[in-house]
Amino acid sequence: MSLKEKIDLQRLPRHVAIIMDGNGRWAKQHGKIRTFGHQSGVKAVRDTVEGAAELGVEVLTLYAFSTENWSRPRFEIDALMHLLVQTISKETPTLMENNIRLATIGNTESLPDKVLKNLNKSIDKTAGNSRMTLVLALSYSSRWEITNAVQNIAREVKEGLLKPEDINEKLISQHLNTAAWPDPELLIRTSGEARVSNYLLWQIAYAELYFTQKLWPDFRREDLYEAIIDFQNRERRFGKTSEQLKSEHA
Ligand code: FPP
Repeated sequence: MSLKEKIDLQRLPRHVAIIMDGNGRWAKQHGKIRTFGHQSGVKAVRDTVEGAAELGVEVLTLYAFSTENWSRPRFEIDALMHLLVQTISKETPTLMENNIRLATIGNTESLPDKVLKNLNKSIDKTAGNSRMTLVLALSYSSRWEITNAVQNIAREVKEGLLKPEDINEKLISQHLNTAAWPDPELLIRTSGEARVSNYLLWQIAYAELYFTQKLWPDFRREDLYEAIIDFQNRERRFGKTSEQLKSEHA
């Protein structure tokens, strides 16, 4: 039985989020500069996106550039931005062939013009695709996103569009960048680090966390399958007891 056959397609996580980590260490292990690790990470992105879409995952969110990444050396930031432009232009036809829609979360206005233009072109072109949504988190951090949401809610209260008592969990979710999609049920982080690094903090409240030692450039669809199999073998209790769950499903 192949890894893929072990997956129960009826119980797939609808939304998978990934922290792609370890590009720099991978490059070092191969005696190359850090940017070579990022370039090599593109192959992992391509294979994971195709693998997820093929299975039937509805939303795949990749942490491509965090707010904190702006403090990296200028050379590395420029290389990452160049890689983004290049990859988006090159991969848009593949997104079209695979019926995948591109979207972003984060403070994308802070990205260089060329990146933003390319992104918007690809977002517009793929807007009608419906098999899977590929979300790139770019210049993203969860605290930035939540701060923005709170400011917008406060503004709506001030303008009389909302009453303070209207503020509930659903309304807060609706003011986040991810409002259009279900919360991630599975969060994967590569490279052996067990942190969530300011990523989708509100949205992962009930997500299963999966950490793998693999460095991102080595990650392939089979690694995604393993994470999903692990996810499917866990008991998701949402605060209830194991006995309660069993009697509900009896
Ligand atoms: C983390 O590794 C990775 C990043 C900050 C960038 C991820 C970008 C890509 C995989 C390439 C382009 C992506 C797309 C979507 C086109 P790190 O540099 O923090 O590695 P380290 O922890 O080993 O130093």
